[in-house]
Amino acid sequence: MVKIISLKKEAQKEIKKAKDLKELDQIFKKYLGKRGKITQILRSLKKLKKETRIKIGKEANLLKKIVEENIREKAEKLKEKARAEILKKEQIDVTVPGKKVILGHLHPLTQIQRKVEEVFQSMGFSVVEGPEIETEWYNFDALNIPKDHPARDFWNTLWLKKATGDRRQETRLLLRTHTSPVQVRFMGKNPPPLRIIVPGRVFRHEATDASHEVNFYQIEGLMVDKNISVANFKAIIQKFFKKFFGKPARGPLRPRSEASEARQGRPIKIRLRPSYFPFTEPSFEVDMTCLTCRGKGCSACQRTGWMEMMGAGMVHPNVFKAVGLNPKDWQGFAFGMGLDRLAMMKYKINDIRLFYSGDLRFLNQF
Ligand code: PHE
Repeated sequence: MVKIISLKKEAQKEIKKAKDLKELDQIFKKYLGKRGKITQILRSLKKLKKETRIKIGKEANLLKKIVEENIREKAEKLKEKARAEILKKEQIDVTVPGKKVILGHLHPLTQIQRKVEEVFQSMGFSVVEGPEIETEWYNFDALNIPKDHPARDFWNTLWLKKATGDRRQETRLLLRTHTSPVQVRFMGKNPPPLRIIVPGRVFRHEATDASHEVNFYQIEGLMVDKNISVANFKAIIQKFFKKFFGKPARGPLRPRSEASEARQGRPIKIRLRPSYFPFTEPSFEVDMTCLTCRGKGCSACQRTGWMEMMGAGMVHPNVFKAVGLNPKDWQGFAFGMGLDRLAMMKYKINDIRLFYSGDLRFLNQF
């Protein structure tokens, strides 16, 4: 009897402690298995005298029933717990915000190119493109730069090999060194009056450093009519710089504070300096008020207050002749500026190589 009572306590304690079905199964075997403690008691009953057998047998059978019942109950509880755990793991909280899809954006040079196009389009210019692989004739000869002319040295050229087997190919191919050949290509097919800009990639055979790359971008401009003059050029370029670099216009209800007026400094101005290009006459370099110091003079502009922005000039008569136009009938201006340079000034970037590095730490800032 004592044994049965202590066995009941022992079994119930173990059942209560069982952490999973596996442990519970072991407990079942320990007490109710073939050689289980309760099973053994029941088996040994036949050795007992009839009186004790009946008494002990009754108790032992009761114990068996209770333990079985306890195990079944515990098994239910454990199963329920396991199910709840799985449910918890699989639960989806539909109110949790989704993963953000990271969208890319346009390269800073593309953004600048589009901005430049927008400003010129607002002044009636069309955007035209030309090939990056160019012939010697378009890149040089037609632009009044004949073979052996020293001016060819201005453009360190990447020449391409002739197509093998094609002996008839007289003119050599190259990677265009500037966008000026598109002046010739366009005028050859489209008689003036005309106003175009030509954005595009150009190539130079040069060592790279903070301000030189083997490839970069230019924007060419060309305006031709019966009597286009340098005055027209100055007006258009002045307007371009104002629109491109100027702060967006403010509404009349928000007058500028004195402080912001002072920060703004003098307005953006341009100046022309005499220069030389074989395809323009006269030729000039165009400077713009330094944006860092607004003309006061700083280290970025060598204390001059001016930044060099582009080469330009009046279209040379020989260029008109090369496309079959009579220079006595037409005149116009052309200019060429570095897109990378514009971007570097607008965003105060000090190394051109960053644009081509593919470095996301740089690109993600735009
Ligand atoms: N093509 C010249 C350059 O690459 C720039 C230029 C364009 C100058 C048009 C005058 C007129 O340096």
